[in-house]
Amino acid sequence: MTEIKRTWWKEAVVYQIYWRSFYDSDGDGCGDLEGLIQKLDHIAGLGVDVIWLNPVYESPDLDNGYDISDYEAVMPKAGTMETLDRLLAEVHRRGMKLIMDLVVNHTSDRHPWFVESRSSRDNPKRDWYIWLDAKAGGPPNNWRSYFAPSAWELDAATDQYYFHSFAVEQPDLNWRNPEVREAVYGMMKRWLDRGIDGFRLDAIALLAKPDGYPDAEKPEDIRYLTNNPGLHDYLREMNERVFSGYDVVTVGEAAYVTPEEGLKFVGEDRGELDMLFHFEICDEMPAWDMLRFKRIQRAWYEGLWGKGSNSQFLNNHDHTRQVTRYGNDGPYRVQSAKLLATMLHTLPGIPYIYQGEEIGMTGVRFPSIEDYDDIAMKNRYAEEIAKGRDPAETLSGLQALSRDNSRTPMQWDDSSEAGFTTGKPWIKVNPNYREINVAKDLADLDSVYAYYQRLIALRKENEVMVYGDFEEWPEWEEDARLYVYTRKLGGVCWLIVLNHSDEATDMALPARLSGRTMRMLLGNESNVGVGETEGYLRLKPHEARIFEVK
Ligand code: GLC
Repeated sequence: MTEIKRTWWKEAVVYQIYWRSFYDSDGDGCGDLEGLIQKLDHIAGLGVDVIWLNPVYESPDLDNGYDISDYEAVMPKAGTMETLDRLLAEVHRRGMKLIMDLVVNHTSDRHPWFVESRSSRDNPKRDWYIWLDAKAGGPPNNWRSYFAPSAWELDAATDQYYFHSFAVEQPDLNWRNPEVREAVYGMMKRWLDRGIDGFRLDAIALLAKPDGYPDAEKPEDIRYLTNNPGLHDYLREMNERVFSGYDVVTVGEAAYVTPEEGLKFVGEDRGELDMLFHFEICDEMPAWDMLRFKRIQRAWYEGLWGKGSNSQFLNNHDHTRQVTRYGNDGPYRVQSAKLLATMLHTLPGIPYIYQGEEIGMTGVRFPSIEDYDDIAMKNRYAEEIAKGRDPAETLSGLQALSRDNSRTPMQWDDSSEAGFTTGKPWIKVNPNYREINVAKDLADLDSVYAYYQRLIALRKENEVMVYGDFEEWPEWEEDARLYVYTRKLGGVCWLIVLNHSDEATDMALPARLSGRTMRMLLGNESNVGVGETEGYLRLKPHEARIFEVK
């Protein structure tokens, strides 16, 4: 048995709030913090412990708050500092914690730091961002950015290029400059002193930049933006200067990391961050691939277990909703949503629920590019059209993975605009809100929401789900439909059986179970028990079961 160091946050379930799409309290079409306060019981009712709030700082809002122009003010669309303080108090009053999303790789180009930096070559803040001269009459190297064809933008007034890993309007801070680091640490401490319980650190693997910015061989493979030398020195310093003084939790968003790299962020002996979001699934596995998923889970378990903490999620606000992308959002939507939940809450790591997942919300396909808001998608669309591509084809190519799939408003009930707003929503609601909504789920004891409640309660009562060793049963390792594994702690053994497919299937119980009893703890189908005595389980499509084995 692996000895795991116990902490409150390892036992937590986290719920992510994309507040602009959660609940609109004032009818302007945009969700807000007041709306979130009004709906806190919905979240507390699930039994979750921690809320991750997407960025609410002052921002021109070009990338939905990830372009911050003042770290110490609240965006008026979201509310005021007073509302945020009240939210924090209300979250705490319900026994939950609040972590804030924080973007320190870049700011908005309207941030006063950047306004100063770009004002002249000898401004004292020039070196707070990354400025280079042209090379051969063009940008300093051939890198792409996440949201634009070049990572460099020419500033005509000072005739130099600045670096941006994301949109042109999101210049990267220069982490080599100790003044920048001091300013960021001071700001972080002021937030923690205000009482928030931690941070989700945006794009944190991007902080360090390589010496000399060499050209990339394959510019379209943007891995070069991440995990450059020096990154872990910054994270250790950040921890030493900020996090180590508080009982808070930190989770780092780290694109393109392997388990080996991942351990550097969250190794418990390293003093950097607490938990990791890696993206070997959400960014790198476009559609469901069971064998690949199993391999990824095994590798991360082997790399991290007992040494550092992972997170479990199949989508956040940057990806298509899990039941659409990785499950079945048609005839088996409810079962599939429950199966995916069972899987994420029983695999090793801290489970994250993205708003709407608890009622099995699905992705969307809007008819026109005008219906979309996602800057990543819109910039890519413009780039393709400029190359002469067909608009309809381009749109349909981008729809499946548009970030707006997960950003449509929360579906509260079947009234107009899904009960999200009395005004015109900032982005269209998913047309299926009459069938899929919170009110309907609350009235149904067999709903996805009710299932999440049971699942989370089970985790609360049974530490085997948190601290238990994980073992995949080898008989099914190469099975593309069934996922079979145990969690074990002390004398307790749980068996999890998932039929992630549209077909019913029988699973022969292996000999090692003979003479042992299997008690069903939770499942997403009602007619359980068939076949058990004959030595097999008869599993329906998308059926999930959790057993205790004695
Ligand atoms: C992260 C965020 C994403 C944002 C980007 C730039 O990946 O999750 O929404 O656009 O960073 O800050």
